[in-house]
Amino acid sequence: MSRPPASTLTVRQARSFGGEISVPGDKSLSHRAVLFSALADGTTVITGFLPGEDCVCTMRALQAMGCVIEADSKTRLIVHGIDGKLQPPLEPLDCGNSGTAMRLMAGVLAGQPFTSRLIGDASLSSRPMKRIVDPLRQMGAQIKGQGEKQTAPLEITGGPLTGIEYTLPVASAQLKSCLLLAGLFANGTTSITEKTPSRDHTERLLAHFHAPPVIDVNPDDQSKTIRVRGGSRLHARDFNVPGDFSSAAFWIAAAAAMPGADLTITNLGLNGTRTGLLSVLLRMGAQIHESISDSSCEPFGNVRVYGRKLRGTKIAGAEIANVIDELPIIAVIGAIADGDTEIRDAHELRVKETDRIAAMATNLRAFGVAVTEHDDGMTVHGGGEKLTGAKVGSFGDHRIAMACAVLGLFAKGETTVSETACIATSYPTFQDDLNKIATFSEGGLGGWLSGDR
Ligand code: S3P
Repeated sequence: MSRPPASTLTVRQARSFGGEISVPGDKSLSHRAVLFSALADGTTVITGFLPGEDCVCTMRALQAMGCVIEADSKTRLIVHGIDGKLQPPLEPLDCGNSGTAMRLMAGVLAGQPFTSRLIGDASLSSRPMKRIVDPLRQMGAQIKGQGEKQTAPLEITGGPLTGIEYTLPVASAQLKSCLLLAGLFANGTTSITEKTPSRDHTERLLAHFHAPPVIDVNPDDQSKTIRVRGGSRLHARDFNVPGDFSSAAFWIAAAAAMPGADLTITNLGLNGTRTGLLSVLLRMGAQIHESISDSSCEPFGNVRVYGRKLRGTKIAGAEIANVIDELPIIAVIGAIADGDTEIRDAHELRVKETDRIAAMATNLRAFGVAVTEHDDGMTVHGGGEKLTGAKVGSFGDHRIAMACAVLGLFAKGETTVSETACIATSYPTFQDDLNKIATFSEGGLGGWLSGDR
């Protein structure tokens, strides 16, 4: 997907922070909702869809394979499902910056009787696809990737697949989902075991679309085995996407660390495989109230946060998968909190949209924060008082851009984050929402974009 020209976000130190907002739809759920409803028979209405670039890539790829999708607003889609029978695309399918689009789509394409090509931007084309290529080949798909890491472009010749039993070598919901989707098109049963829990949206949405997987938890080690039966058909069913916890995370974390703040986020996705940030902040001394109003498919509700001074903590082990997208903002909060915040066992951060360990270490240092980088994480030496505004880059990564903009709210003077067009992949209204909930000592707007978008 082509990107608008680079833009810059400028942020000043905030005087106060709070109020009530809701954030745009969940990215993981928007990908899955449009994908599953396209594969289903019948018509599904999706409300709350995230019109970010990543999810639009998934939607366009499905349209390019014969699925009719009407958008009567940016967030409400009417998807006419094609009952699992995609048509060969005439052009390569462009997944833009989105690992979720590429990995989930690859699982579906592995079971289709045609050849297709998945491409992405420079960042996505450097991310490891071997993790999906190897097991999809075991199932019988022919896939060509590039080099040792089997990076994109991926050429996939799908066909009859055979179910496999597979233990995930990394805690990855994208890999798990890829294989479960391929399993729908395979002969026999596909069994995926995960030793560390990753987000379970695919399991929940398969059930929502009337193809519930069978899930067993091993009492000895709490590992989970998820089984799908080949040939299971999905049936249309309307779906409402709640707000994205990973987008709200920037505001929740900022409010928690700013004494005097009082912020409420409404209609927020509160799936327990995503909300580990709340536990991390509570350990750091935060005051947070979570209320779930519905948990029939995906839990959602409100979160209210009161600000106070926080202290450092350690995040490691099984907790990492639950906070994987929140680690940049956790590093920022570590810089503001008293004491050290240590992040370990987070090797996966090195292969996200950018190397998020290196990127955060560089940017935090620009603000005057001491950071020790580890292979698998970082230790942020907090204290916060001496933070000064900085000029930093986004490394082309939406979460680095947004995390550093939040740090700017705590830093004296002005902070400039360059190359912020990437924010549109997941949170197109980030800047508007920032201006709704923050007020600034010098009056006027505190965050603005410059440059043509
Ligand atoms: C996602 C899973 C996570 C996450 C990404 C979205 C998903 O990636 O980082 O933003 O929707 O399945 P991994 O599963 O590769 O860790």
